Amino acid sequence: MKGIILHGGHGTRLRPLTHTGPKQLIPVANKPISQYVLEDLRNSGIRDIAIILGDVLPEKVKQFYGKGQELGVDITYIQQDRPAGIAQAVGLAENFIKDSPFVVYLGDNLLKGGISKFVKEFQQQNYDAMILLCQVENPQQFGVAKFNENDKLVKLMEKPKEPPSNYALTGIYFLTPKIFTMVRRLKPSWRGELEITEALQLLIDNGYNVGYKFVEGWWKDTGTVEDIIEANRLILDDLNPKIEGTVEGKNCVQGRVVIGDGSVVNRGALIRGPALIGKNTMIGGGVYVGPYTSIGNNVKLKKGEIENSIVMDDCLIEINGKLIDSLIGPSTEITTNMKGPKGHKLIVGESSRIVL
Ligand code: TTP
Repeated sequence: MKGIILHGGHGTRLRPLTHTGPKQLIPVANKPISQYVLEDLRNSGIRDIAIILGDVLPEKVKQFYGKGQELGVDITYIQQDRPAGIAQAVGLAENFIKDSPFVVYLGDNLLKGGISKFVKEFQQQNYDAMILLCQVENPQQFGVAKFNENDKLVKLMEKPKEPPSNYALTGIYFLTPKIFTMVRRLKPSWRGELEITEALQLLIDNGYNVGYKFVEGWWKDTGTVEDIIEANRLILDDLNPKIEGTVEGKNCVQGRVVIGDGSVVNRGALIRGPALIGKNTMIGGGVYVGPYTSIGNNVKLKKGEIENSIVMDDCLIEINGKLIDSLIGPSTEITTNMKGPKGHKLIVGESSRIVL
């Protein structure tokens, strides 16, 4: 089996974070989303992996993963010039795949429990393709599966107004090279993309054996800020506590908390888990870090309160108030104006969102 990680797309819903890098490198619980994907493939025995790069700073992806040795995989990079669709991206990997079965994993999808069980099932059963379905409350926003009276998969519908079921297609596809013939037959959809749902539909319509399985734990597509904050919560729910840094006060840490090497929690601070603090980070006395918060490396949290949020590396926070439900990009400074005229002073980039 080989693996393909999709690392392209423009991530417009995640601007401004996606002005300076691909969305799949945004950290959830202090680890880039696509690293969970890569590790899931590796833990399922798939080491030969192609990463399809997009046109948003692809060099950052190469710099981060290199050849993959450190993570125990062998990475081939393939460039997609523009986001012309998931099926188009898959088509670019034909030479890499050759005649092997393979898994396509969208680099912004997270699956509790991972895919290893499904990889085994795909290998044992004689499917030409296999999809993973997840029950959702808002099927109108997804690709949705339709079954006949014998529970056979008959149709895949992209964002249907009247969904035929509550089963959404996750971004994990188990495929064989037969898909390439179908991709070649596709025409761009109304949104100008080659759609993977249409390629799968062609397999179904031409009598190929397209199977399906249901996700058992949670599945999260991290397309929006709210999704990322929720994914962070879901991962922190399984956090194993570990204190490697220095905690100065006795009651500073409550519940499941991780404090990375070189970090210092000053006397009088309170960190209530589940919460994750990276390396070489400083949490000042009087600071409150509430549940479901991930703070990156080299952060200075000198004053203020924060909850249900992600703070990336190298930030400085020194405020009078409380931050909630926030996603704060690397090297950001948030401070309270202690003197001078009252008011909020903002220096923010394009497509930022601020709720005061
Ligand atoms: P989308 O969520 O549609 O990604 P997007 O970047 O278009 O997001 P937005 O709507 O916010 O602009 O794509 C799903 C995943 O597939 C995501 O990981 C990006 C990846 N992808 C590619 O690698 N190439 C492509 O051509 C497309 C359309 C998506």
